[in-house]
Formats: sequence, structure tokens, C-alpha cells
Amino acid sequence: MDDKALQDLRAQIQRRRTFAIISHPDAGKTTLTEKLLLYGGAIQSAGSVKGKQSDRHATSDWMEIERQRGISVTSSVLQFEYQGFCINILDTPGHQDFSEDTYRTLMAADSAIMVIDAAKGIEPQTRKLFQVVSRRGIPIFTFINKMDREARDPFALLDELETEFGIETYPMNWPVSCGATFKGVYDRPARRLLTYGDYHGGAKKLEEISADISDTARLDDLIGAHFRQELLDSVELLDGAGAEFDLEQVHRGRLSPVFFGSALHNFGVEEFLECFLKFTTTPLPRRTTEGEEIDPLDTRFSAFVFKIQANMNRAHRDRISFLRICSGRFERGKEYLHVQGEKTLRLAQPQQMMAQERDIIDEAYAGDIIGVFDPGVFSIGDSICDSAFGNTLRFTGIPTFAPEHFAVVEQIDSMKRKQFAKGMTEIAQEGAIQIFFYPNAGMEQVVVGVVGVLQYDVLKFRMKSEYGVEFRQRDLPHELIRRVRTPNFNASDFNLPSDVLWVRDVRGRDLLVFNGQWTVRWAEDKNDNLELAEFYEEI
Ligand code: G4P
Repeated sequence: MDDKALQDLRAQIQRRRTFAIISHPDAGKTTLTEKLLLYGGAIQSAGSVKGKQSDRHATSDWMEIERQRGISVTSSVLQFEYQGFCINILDTPGHQDFSEDTYRTLMAADSAIMVIDAAKGIEPQTRKLFQVVSRRGIPIFTFINKMDREARDPFALLDELETEFGIETYPMNWPVSCGATFKGVYDRPARRLLTYGDYHGGAKKLEEISADISDTARLDDLIGAHFRQELLDSVELLDGAGAEFDLEQVHRGRLSPVFFGSALHNFGVEEFLECFLKFTTTPLPRRTTEGEEIDPLDTRFSAFVFKIQANMNRAHRDRISFLRICSGRFERGKEYLHVQGEKTLRLAQPQQMMAQERDIIDEAYAGDIIGVFDPGVFSIGDSICDSAFGNTLRFTGIPTFAPEHFAVVEQIDSMKRKQFAKGMTEIAQEGAIQIFFYPNAGMEQVVVGVVGVLQYDVLKFRMKSEYGVEFRQRDLPHELIRRVRTPNFNASDFNLPSDVLWVRDVRGRDLLVFNGQWTVRWAEDKNDNLELAEFYEEI
């Protein structure tokens, strides 16, 4: 590669910003995403990303079941340009039943934006998602939303974030009141007040009035003496007692820059976006199972599969694998090595999601997410790379989460054995469900484990519509799964409670499924040579 090409490659990679937006449902994630896309000119009007009513469903909502239930089942990826940056947003489903997919999507991001409802603070789903993000040690930015409504005290909100999540916070701006008397936010680095007015109702460009904080007369005029004094007191407190802004701590995920605003009224969103782009990271290096770090600026292309989605296009049944590019440049039509499949292949129909449609692309860079047509060869966690990397490149950090619900699923029509096996296997490969087998039994009956029960409905729907197979489902009371580390395990050699299930995964590894923590302890107490391990693993 000549110098000019190398410089271009570097410049392209360094202008990439890839992040996920996480929140508890209803905190305002979709609204914020939509406003960010408006700035990038990626969509023309608010309401195009997702509406709760069926007629407004677009982009990521592709399955009938989503339409029926009015929720976003799968994550979508959106790319847009803003001020020279190439931005990839990984949207994640808020519904708790889809948490596994959400968790995996977080593995493809280099930072996260956490949206919090100012009246509610941290909610259960925020908590779960935060844990996954913080395990990766990536930057986390907080947007405290809905300040135009009654909100909790901002100091109390920060305190909650710090004590519950064990991180430091640094408010980049500070709200002046909330709800009916919401006056605006004070921009700390610029030391100016941005006032909130009625004209913010979704306007594309924010037209704020700003005032210098030391201009008392002007402040009194804009927000009144009472709020002016309250603001000055808060600012003094923040400047005196708050954490220092330390970018390195931000990059390590230990200090979260916090912004207050209103996504719905487009207030504080543009400032947030600009600040976020300034402080977040360029694509991060990725670790391999050999303990090596792959530098995104490496000229050789590498990527991993973090998500597989079938049936995105209802006109022709297809399966798309989503790749996160870890290094180099992807070129359409070039041959790459699929490490786990031990084959070189040309990735067909590489595409990127724009807000409204999918575009076939010719090239993409480290940091980008691309979708490729998958004839059923990829599994979650697989690596695809330039053959110059050799055939050992495997990335770490793509976790499989323990299912918490189990059911026995049995085919009804024995003539459809093949379709049943094919459907169950393919859907399991996508990572939406996990399948387990009874040792020494066939494929007619499998145990299906899921993180959220809604996946059973999705499974039933897809098996019928895509594979033409119906099944009987018997829910099990079990909720805990453990790996068996004891070699050559045979359940009959052990003293186990009768309701413990012995199953194997697709790779033939032994697992035990229990219906409560106490049965796990009981089994461990009664069997000295039984070695159990947590299910969580990295693919
Ligand atoms: P989610 O993706 O996190 O689930 O949340 P979403 O953006 O769909 O927002 C949930 C609800 O909160 C929506 O109202 C939305 O309009 C509202 N909302 C979002 N941001 C703000 C804000 O800054 N201020 C106020 N006051 N409301 C906000 P909805 O009535 O449930 O839906 P819709 O019919 O308006 O779409």
C-alpha cells in the first residue's frame, strides 16, 4: 500500500465513531436516536425511525410479530455523516425479553450512550445493560432526558449513578429547574446558559438564546432572580466539590459525562452530540484468543460476526450476518478467509443500513458495521479476515448468556423431521435461542433455553412461517443452567435430585439444568466429584 493510500485508510478509520444507545424502555432512546439522525440529515422528519403505531414502523422493525406487539425485537444499525465524522449507531431493543441480542450488540460498540428518564432515574433494564457495558470498560455517556417534565433533583440523580454503578460523573451541563418551569441548561465548559423556549418543538436546528453566566442582569431577565441564584449556587457547588474532568477516565469507562436535556423538544441534543463526538473514542483495538490486540489501523481487514438476522426481507427469505470491522478496509468482491469455516469466500451483497434503507456498499472501514448475505455458514463470534492474518484469528469477548427459561419442544408432524431440525438449528445459530439435547436421543425433542420468554413466540412464528413446521411446547420449571466440568460425565453415576435435567449443547458438552439455587447447592454438597461451572462464556 502506498503512502497516500495508507493515509487515506487511517483518516477514514479515525473519523469513525461507533456507539450503542441503551436505556430502559420509554426513557427516550428512539426519540434521541431520531434527533441525532436529523442532525446528520439521514432522515427528513421526526417519526421516521420508529413509531409505536403500526403505520409508523420502519427501518429496524421487520417482523410481523413486532408489528403485532408494537415492539422492536431486533437491533438495528444506522450510519450517518456529521461534521466530517462517520457515525455508526447501534440501536438496541428496549424490551427486556430480547436482552441477549442487546448484550451482543454492545460488543460491537466502542462506547455507549445511556438514556435516563429524569423522573425515574436508574431502572432495571438500565442496570442490566450498564453491567454489560461496564464489563468492557468502554466510555459511557449519560443523557438525562425529559427535563421538560417534572424530574428528580439533579444532584440526587448523579448520586444514584455514582453509588449504584460505582462510576464518577461529570455534568457537562446543568439544568435550571424542570417541568413547567424548565428554563434551560447551563453549559459548563462554555460558561453560558442556553434557555429553553417554546420554539424547540422538534426544530431541526436548535435556535437557543445563550447568555454569559456572569451577566446577572441578562440572567435575571431570562430566568428570573430566583433561578439565577439557584443556578449560581449549583455551579459553585459543582465547581468546588465535583469530580475533575479527566478524559482518560472517560475512555476507561470510569467517569461518565452527563448531559441534561429533552430529546422530544430537541433541547440540548446538538450540544450533546458535538461533545460526545469530541470525547468518545475512535475504533478500539480488539483482543484475540491468542492474547494479541488487533490495531484498527492494521491494513489487513478483519471482522467478527456479532449478530445474525433471518428473514429481513420478506420478499425473499434471506439471512444477514452483521460484522463489526475490527481492522483495515473491507472491499466488495475481494476474497476473505472465514476462519471457523476454514474457507475463503466472497461476501455477497455487503450492505450498510441507512436510516430508511439498505445500501449495497463497495467498501467499509474499521469501526463500521456491515451486513452480508449469509447462506447459513456463519455463527455468532466467527471471524472473517484477510488471508494475510493466517487461519488462527479468533476474537474474544462475544458472550453467550445463560438462558433463564426452558421448555421441551417437540415436533408434531413426524414427516417434517428434516425441516424441524433445520429450523431449530438455524434459529439457534442466530443466537436468539439455545438448543440442548437429551443424551442419546434424537432431534425430535429438544430443550430450548431462552433469556426472555417472548423468544418462544418468535420461535413458534418463525418455525411455522419460514420452515412450515409446528411444534408442541412444554414449559419447564427450571431456571438455572450449569456446565459440568467433570470429565466423562454420566448423570446416573451421581446422586442428583430427580428433577435435575441432564442435557448436551450443540458441541456435545454436558450441562445440568436446575430449578433453583438450592438444588445446585444440594447436588454439589452430595457429590464431591461433581464440578459445576457458571454458564457464561465467551464464544
Ligand atoms: P424508548 O425508545 O426508550 O422506548 O422511548 P421513546 O423514544 O419511544 O419515548 C417514549 C415516550 O417518551 C414517547 O412518548 C416519547 O415521545 C416520550 N419522550 C421522549 N423524550 C421525551 C422528552 O424529552 N420529553 C418528554 N416530555 N417526552 C419524551 P409516547 O407518548 O409513549 O409515544 P409517542 O406516541 O409520542 O411516540
